[in-house]
Amino acid sequence: MSFSASAAAEDGDGRSVTVLYATETGTAQEVADRIAAQCRRIHVRARVHNLETYPPENLISEDVVIFSVATTGSGKEPRAMTPLWNLLLRSDLPQDLFEDLSFAVFGLGDSAYEKFCWPAKLLSRRLEGLGATEICSRGEGDDQHHLGIDGAFEPWLRKLTHTLLEFYPLPPLLDIQSADGLPPPRVSITDSDARTLAAYQHPLDDDPQHYTATVSCNRRITAEDWYQDVRHFELDFDEDVRYEPGDIAIVHPEAQPADVEGFLVCTGFDATADDPVTVTQTLQDQSLPDFLPTTTTLRTLFTRHLDISAVPRRSFFALLRHFVFDELEIEKLDEFLSEEGADELYEYCQRPRRMIREVLEEFRSACIPREYIFDLFPPIRPRQFSIASSVKRHPRQIHLCVAMVQYKTMLRIPRRGLCTDYMSRLQPGDALSIGLRKGLFCLPQDGATPIICVGPGTGVAPMRAIIEDRTHDGFNRNTLYFGCRSASKDQHYATEWHAYADNGALTYRTAFSRDGPEGTPRRYVQDVMCEDLQALWRVLGVEGGWLFISGSANKMPAGVRQAIRDAAKREAKKTLEEANEFVALLEREGRLIEECWS
Ligand code: 2AM
Repeated sequence: MSFSASAAAEDGDGRSVTVLYATETGTAQEVADRIAAQCRRIHVRARVHNLETYPPENLISEDVVIFSVATTGSGKEPRAMTPLWNLLLRSDLPQDLFEDLSFAVFGLGDSAYEKFCWPAKLLSRRLEGLGATEICSRGEGDDQHHLGIDGAFEPWLRKLTHTLLEFYPLPPLLDIQSADGLPPPRVSITDSDARTLAAYQHPLDDDPQHYTATVSCNRRITAEDWYQDVRHFELDFDEDVRYEPGDIAIVHPEAQPADVEGFLVCTGFDATADDPVTVTQTLQDQSLPDFLPTTTTLRTLFTRHLDISAVPRRSFFALLRHFVFDELEIEKLDEFLSEEGADELYEYCQRPRRMIREVLEEFRSACIPREYIFDLFPPIRPRQFSIASSVKRHPRQIHLCVAMVQYKTMLRIPRRGLCTDYMSRLQPGDALSIGLRKGLFCLPQDGATPIICVGPGTGVAPMRAIIEDRTHDGFNRNTLYFGCRSASKDQHYATEWHAYADNGALTYRTAFSRDGPEGTPRRYVQDVMCEDLQALWRVLGVEGGWLFISGSANKMPAGVRQAIRDAAKREAKKTLEEANEFVALLEREGRLIEECWS
């Protein structure tokens, strides 16, 4: 039976599930789409919603909900899940509120972190506590798995399918649609005329949260001979921009024109790459990239919206299999897709971080129908950076401090991060689109309250915003713990910190992890804090001060908390339990705020 006939058969028969996702980097969304596609194969209608826009109280009237939930660096729930979580945590909820709800949860996380898949775990526990029934035991996708989240997702999806089939047995005369069959595309793409394209306004232009900025500075701030390229950016706006210290800038990256051109030629899309086309969504259960224009060109789609530089997942190869004609290439794909082929696929793709456009150069017989591009290519994700400036100091400007992502694998060409590669190419005068959103940090109302900032590496970015803001208003009780490898090579904004310190506006404390003699242990910010227990206790324990932590999550935030516990124990003679409670109290009162990334 064809898809449309089966969809018609499902209409109005109650065979439906709701798939809710809370994503950080987009993977939980991709997982939600894959769950929905799988539901379609067993003739169950899936409605996919982002928790960001899903009214949490609607959950009460749902029958079957499948959650796909990411984890943040610190183990907290993704921002999109907060409204639902706040509702679920209310103490006045009846114990049987979700008696009629059946649910399943797939969590995404990284077992290198202490709180692996924490939001997913808490969610299933809480829903069960409120009477809901978990119909399929929780799946936990692990970035550390050599197959990535697929390692856990594929077996979990099989289990879920089994459960759903018990829930919704197949209607008479319908079969499970083979996963090997060609699924319907999620869009249709039709030719449009040039006038429509010229008149078309990009959806970003209408979004009040987005501004067009002009680059006025893109300067390397690490030494030229240093292994890491960290840039200071200054972006100018010709209108007033409003943001607070701790807020976040969203950058919409673009693929490099030469990479796009190479890709278009390789895939044969080059002949029509600049012809205007109209994109229309045809499958309601599969998501599309945010801010997708309806009228555009293939070149624009592959430059701004679809990621030709992503490392492809197994599902990419499964779909590509339908569009490849050469015998040897088909054989290779079948090998990758077989059960035994998983390791081979990992060695081919994940390990060397091979990109989709590089893969397609090796599968030359591929002939991709243009309406399938949204199924084959993941969306280009906007990236978020903590703003490194105070608008009080720099009206109509935003500064960013960004480490360029580049590393080597066994492939000849070094790997680069899509967004930072885009940003590294920006020249003064170039325009880019910037979104703004609130971060987790906020400053104490009373500027006289002392603060401690801990921001090693590019974690110093929001600290620069905070310190600029407070010193602009004449509030000088500021301490900064900064850590980097070398005092002379990567001590970001050192001149500014020394100038504040000279003016009595900053206590500047540093940890240079690799400046010590060979063989000595590395010195980190938390080690320096342990030398300052008396001062730490005075600010946090006696004077009601605040503590901000930002940087690569790793073990740093835990080390900083330990230093605070040590201060409470040594300076205030607290027991271990009391010291733990003190740190917990700081967090509850919003005086200890952490914004870290993995
Ligand atoms: P390393 O790279 O020499 O180990 C900014 O990246 C600084 O943070 C570097 O000096 C880095 O040191 C340091 N760093 C790495 N791991 C850390 C940890 N667990 N706690 C604190 N700082 C850490």
